[in-house]
Amino acid sequence: MATSTNAIISRAAPHTIKKFELISNYVDGWARKILGYGKSQGIIYIDCMSNSGVYTDNENIVEGTAIRVAKELNEIISNYPDKKAIAIFNDLSKEKINLLEREINKLKLNSNIEIYYYCEDRSCFLHGLALNNWEDFNILLVYDPYKAEIDWNAITPFLNTWGEVIINHMVFDTNRGASQAKRSEVINRYEETYQKDISSIIDFGRDKDQLEKIIESLINRRSEKHHHIASFPFFTRTNGLLYNLILCTTNIEGLKLYKKTAWKLFGGKSSLKNTHDNPNQLSFDFGTDFELDKTPDTECYTISDIARYIFKKYNNQKNVLLEDVYKDLDEHPIFPSDGFKTEIKKELRKLGVKIMKDSISFS
Ligand SMILES: C[S@@+](CC[C@H](N)C(=O)[O-])C[C@H]1O[C@@H](n2cnc3c(N)ncnc32)[C@H](O)[C@@H]1O
Repeated sequence: MATSTNAIISRAAPHTIKKFELISNYVDGWARKILGYGKSQGIIYIDCMSNSGVYTDNENIVEGTAIRVAKELNEIISNYPDKKAIAIFNDLSKEKINLLEREINKLKLNSNIEIYYYCEDRSCFLHGLALNNWEDFNILLVYDPYKAEIDWNAITPFLNTWGEVIINHMVFDTNRGASQAKRSEVINRYEETYQKDISSIIDFGRDKDQLEKIIESLINRRSEKHHHIASFPFFTRTNGLLYNLILCTTNIEGLKLYKKTAWKLFGGKSSLKNTHDNPNQLSFDFGTDFELDKTPDTECYTISDIARYIFKKYNNQKNVLLEDVYKDLDEHPIFPSDGFKTEIKKELRKLGVKIMKDSISFS
């Protein structure tokens, strides 16, 4: 079976399958929230680089995001007969989009879900969509290229409509490719993505955090309203950072849901980076000071890092309402509170924090 990126059925590495899961699990929760909201007429999911929806892990067929989302929306929309779910898939490859259409046709979807297929360059496709016709629909755009390649003019209208945008920032590509770029089209691609000249990109390119900061500041610059931004990294088996999957949302509920979905998917951590933890290792109690001094791995935070963050921020106050702690975490770009409250309290107890029904106290 062909495994190149041009293959109609390409190979999905473990991190790619996790990406499918993060997007599709998020869409599941997002669709339920939006459809339950009285004023919405429905939801529109757009993937402007959808691929064929069919992959292989070398042994089995693996469903890509497009098929997963079509199935989920189909199931959820059946509970909302007066609303509509629309999914719009685009890919430059005719063969891929045709295969996706054939696979989705096999699913025999409900009548209140509509699926549209396009085969265009992503930028022409996005510019051609008439966003004004969908004012009472919430729109989620997924922008998922193979390379560091972001067309900001095409994305900006989606940042400024009622909806959310998920961008795959292919940081590995820049880190490796920017300094090697010779052809003008490649140089232009990096310059358009980071809105900087190639020499600064090469300088920044050595530092993946800096590259991510540039993308996040461009999202803010392009947005008319304040956006919450949450970004989760994806690694190779050997811990190479490949890409960050960034959610941009004006809605705090979107941010909370994305963080909860990612941390659940990564098993109570902020990524699947291999931190070489040995679960069989004996754990010694070296006391609170020792625990508090631990430095977090900023590429893979744990629940105990969340507890340390809370301790350090609030321990000069005797009593703090749990409501205030959770509100702080809700707005945090990485740490969740939804879905992890019990675990966070357990870690706080280990730091000597007393947990009451509605508050915590530092003695
Ligand atoms: C990373 S894959 C997308 C994966 C997909 N979002 C998923 O989760 O299954 C990138 C896709 O972009 C398509 N593509 C590449 N250049 C494109 C362009 N200029 N316009 C539209 N699609 C493009 C490729 O054919 C490929 O299927």
